[in-house]
Amino acid sequence: MQTTHSNPPSSSLTLGIETSCDETGIALYHSEKGLIAHTLYSQIKLHAEYGGVVPELASRDHIRKITPLIQETLKKGQVSAKDITGIAYTAGPGLMGALLSGASVARSLAFAWQIPAIAIHHMEGHLLAPMLEDTQPEFPFICLLVSGGHTMIIRVDGIGRYKLLGDTLDDAAGEAFDKTAKMLGLGYPGGPEVSKLALKGESGRYKFPRPMVDRPGLDMSFSGLKTFTLNTWLKAKENGDDSEQTKADICRAFEVAVADTLSIKCKRALEQEGLNRLVVSGGVSANREIRAKLDALMAKRKGSAFYPRLEFCTDNGAMIAYAGSKRLAAGQSSDLNFACQPRWDLESLEPIDPIEVA
Ligand code: KG4
Ligand code: ZN
Repeated sequence: MQTTHSNPPSSSLTLGIETSCDETGIALYHSEKGLIAHTLYSQIKLHAEYGGVVPELASRDHIRKITPLIQETLKKGQVSAKDITGIAYTAGPGLMGALLSGASVARSLAFAWQIPAIAIHHMEGHLLAPMLEDTQPEFPFICLLVSGGHTMIIRVDGIGRYKLLGDTLDDAAGEAFDKTAKMLGLGYPGGPEVSKLALKGESGRYKFPRPMVDRPGLDMSFSGLKTFTLNTWLKAKENGDDSEQTKADICRAFEVAVADTLSIKCKRALEQEGLNRLVVSGGVSANREIRAKLDALMAKRKGSAFYPRLEFCTDNGAMIAYAGSKRLAAGQSSDLNFACQPRWDLESLEPIDPIEVA
């Protein structure tokens, strides 16, 4: 539940806290100076031996790291706790225990420091991440949000003004990358591993399907592509070919198929909405092939593509601090008993006036 204060401070410093999955991200965003400090602790090593995130271990590690990281971020930004005017924390979607660890710290600090706290939707953080760059997209734009848990095409008319145009019917794109990596015996997280090996792959040796492109609409599906990849690999092995080159060729065919599919759907969304600005964010937006395809699409359309810098494609505190800063500046805040939401409808968020974003 959100409340509106009549007098939000004129200049503000927002502490952002991200703990939705396996990264503890802390940042400080100043309303005039922009991002002044950020730190990140990734739990990748902790979960790598299990081949995926273990929720209980994630929560414990967030609790261990969060306070030292806040101290480190304050030091980096050369500010003290009393300079902070508001706290933004990820309240969902994500792993419940992980969300609760960040939310508890955020709300306790807000209570102790007598400042407002704001609950931020993780995917809103991702889709606004390109706003932290020097060249920012103007509203309205189409956003392709591709992460480990989501693959969405959204029309964005302002902060909190989101219309979901397309979604995946099954696996998210990042999930398909992670599962492909697992079946090929590559490391975790799978996206960067598949992408690295794909660089050595020969394009054209395998041709993978582009799922759902022959059907109207903007929904997507990646589970069939994942099965196709598995079958191709099993067949190669049956024929006595489990070479690194074959793995690389499969990675290449998989990556190109995902990139093509996303590009076709983005083109369709831009045409449908009559827009020519595309924002691409979320962990998978770090992918080189996907960026190249979407850059080519936008160059052909004489439009523009916007991405976060690589370190802000994956989970981070900066995007949460940014989204929180804008919402707090618009007078919004969340009750201290706001419930974290492992599932949370992006379209249900409260809008703020787009004019206040500039
Ligand atoms: O946004 P994110 O950090 O976490 C979620 O909110 O899910 O995204 C993580 C996902 C993982 O599935 C990871 O494999 C994928 O992003 N990813 C990539 C690349 N870097 C990260 N996928 C493809 N290519 C990459 N370079
Ligand atoms: Zn994320």
